[in-house]
Amino acid sequence: MKNILVTGGAGFIGANFVHYMLSRHDDYRIIVYDKLTYAGNLDNLLPVQDDPRYAFVRGDICDRMMVEQTLRDHNIDTIVNFAAESHVDRSIMDPDAFIQTSVYGTYTLLESAKNLGLERYHQISTDEVYGHIPAGYSSKETDKVDPRSPYAASKASADLLVNAYHITYGLPVTITRGSNNIGPYQYPEKAVPLFATNAIDNLPLPVYGDGRQMREYQYVVDHCEAIDLVLQRGTVGEIYNIGTGVEVENLTMIEILLDSLNRPRSLIRHVADRPGHDRRYSLDIAKITALGWEPDHSPAEAINKTADWYRDNEWWWRKIKNGDFRQYYEAQYGDRLRAAAPQE
Ligand code: NAD
Ligand code: TYD
Repeated sequence: MKNILVTGGAGFIGANFVHYMLSRHDDYRIIVYDKLTYAGNLDNLLPVQDDPRYAFVRGDICDRMMVEQTLRDHNIDTIVNFAAESHVDRSIMDPDAFIQTSVYGTYTLLESAKNLGLERYHQISTDEVYGHIPAGYSSKETDKVDPRSPYAASKASADLLVNAYHITYGLPVTITRGSNNIGPYQYPEKAVPLFATNAIDNLPLPVYGDGRQMREYQYVVDHCEAIDLVLQRGTVGEIYNIGTGVEVENLTMIEILLDSLNRPRSLIRHVADRPGHDRRYSLDIAKITALGWEPDHSPAEAINKTADWYRDNEWWWRKIKNGDFRQYYEAQYGDRLRAAAPQE
């Protein structure tokens, strides 16, 4: 493995993965292939833009001709597919692009990988494919998928296609299912960067429902390290969960964040809940730890480090929040926040 196509590499996790791989593997070439949707941002790749081992191609993963041309032009042997529409709330507003990119786009990449005989196709998936997990249980890779949002359903569909290409055509695939990532370059629609940047500006934090939903917040670089390990040592045809094994209530995450940024709890606003909101995700990570990986950051360390990054990098997020994001924010939160009373 030497020439890797990182689809969706201008997004949050993809860009962190590019930084990670170039810092760890001197002999790798990384080609980012990205459509640059609202979530794709070349600022995320500024630290590597002059690296001769890196190149950027703007393209849609649904465009088979362009995908195959790029694979040939760069002599690609491995695809790591991060490209997706990734935000649950947007998938509730309008699922169309989610289905297009994750279902048809993944199919296109698989067909191209098969036709060109690539060494590996790796799919970046999510713990959300397992659906809501009752207390006391953690999802294993062998569990059936049970997605409940259009986003999660689009990701589960992609996983099923990847698995089908392995079984039917013998395509050498691997899948990783990560829990909630946090860290540098996360678009401020997701909970942690939204809350961090709102808190910095002393704006209310819109907490869905009672805020007692549970997520496994993991530091993005830990996730990237585990993906690299699966590329090196994972068994073809297998799925690997990647998380912390530690679940955190949203309100606890918010308290850590507010303390870190020195902001008061009175910024918390309980607003109308997300429809179909999954209450709890929890991953059994025995399989990836058996490969020799464990997270370097506890959830609290990850939240504190993320808060520091947003405090120190206003240049990155302020232009996003001052752009089209404003219309999204009003559509998603305007009525919710106007209806919510300030917390006592
Ligand atoms: P993101 O929204 O920040 O980035 C997605 C990237 O994909 C963007 O650069 C966008 O321009 C690109 N893209 C979208 N549609 C495309 C298309 N049709 N063709 C080419 N590029 C396209 O997402 P993220 O948070 O970095 O997530 C990356 C991947 O990891 C996704 O597959 C997501 O489902 C998965 N994942 C995310 C998390 C998380 O906590 N963020 C957790 C587990 C898994
Ligand atoms: P999010 O970052 O959207 O990730 P996901 O829903 O994919 O896990 O949300 C994380 C948690 O925070 C989730 O339980 C929903 C909640 N949340 C809020 O309470 N308010 C918000 O404004 C957002 C975006 C999320």
